[in-house]
Amino acid sequence: MPACPPFRFPRILGEAIAYGRQGTPIGGYLDEVGGPLARQDIRDLVHWLRETAGVEPLAIDPEKGHDRLAADAADGARVYRAHCASCHGDQGEGGTGTALGNAAMLALTPDHFLRHAIVEARQGTPMPAFAGILSATEIDNLTAFRRSRSTGWSAEGRTLRRPPPLDRYVINPEGEAPRFGELKDGRYLSAAVLDRELRARRRMVLLDTRVTSMWQMAHIEGAVPVPYYANREQAVASLPRDSTWIVAYCECPRAAADSVVKWLREEGGFGHTAVLYEGIRGWVSLGYPVVAGDASK
Ligand code: HEC
Repeated sequence: MPACPPFRFPRILGEAIAYGRQGTPIGGYLDEVGGPLARQDIRDLVHWLRETAGVEPLAIDPEKGHDRLAADAADGARVYRAHCASCHGDQGEGGTGTALGNAAMLALTPDHFLRHAIVEARQGTPMPAFAGILSATEIDNLTAFRRSRSTGWSAEGRTLRRPPPLDRYVINPEGEAPRFGELKDGRYLSAAVLDRELRARRRMVLLDTRVTSMWQMAHIEGAVPVPYYANREQAVASLPRDSTWIVAYCECPRAAADSVVKWLREEGGFGHTAVLYEGIRGWVSLGYPVVAGDASK
């Protein structure tokens, strides 16, 4: 079964090059969003950057590594004002330092990575290393503070959503069928069309096929976590069989969702199915909204 590759720093870098960074001058270079590079070119480029910079990639255990740090975001705000705001701006908007309030980046970057960037200095830049200046707890708190801004820097905090019960998967149950038009390669739906149809309150099911901890960090509102490795018979038992559209996404950008949709069509007998072409990284990088979830309760 094709799995999402482990979450690694080069993928964050690659996606920033592919889709650009919302709210910064970096535009998307991927051909899918009108840029000059194919996905393979971007992989080659990231590989070259890594070799040149000699950066040892951090790898994260996809099962455990995305858990939020249990830390004090309010104290983190204090530390931020005292040590970071002078360069990164009161609202994380940037100044001498880069803008830190990028919601897309925050939404999908594990705490571990956010923390790492604070501990290590950036050689040849004014960014100091805080390893000896701040305590480990203060760095955890800062990370929690930044995390709390992942759905908008000026937001007070983030609201957690729980997955709906199995029999309430359907988004907009009273709505009309979505008008997806022709699917690319008979399967793919663009982020722009999905966003348009969600805003038009059309009836559909959204399956988040990544590991549940990723759903927890950020997902498209209404999506239910059905990881690609879940027991499929069980997962689909409660899906509606009345031609309601089922859209799956992952962040590979498509491999895991592809395998789930292939299964739904061939084994499950579900005809109205589609895969989000850009994946969730593309979705957030293009500026479409996500919410955070809580699957622990
Ligand atoms: C003296 C100015 C200065 C201070 C103070 C400072 N930074 Fe930075 N920071 C920078 C600069 C400049 C960069 C960009 C470095 C580069 O070009 O890679 C940066 C980069 C970063 C990055 C990486 C951003 C990215 O998108 O790659 C993070 C995260 C960060 N700083 C967090 C912090 C935090 C948290 C604090 C407070 C504890 C802090 N910084 C304090 C100047 C500063």
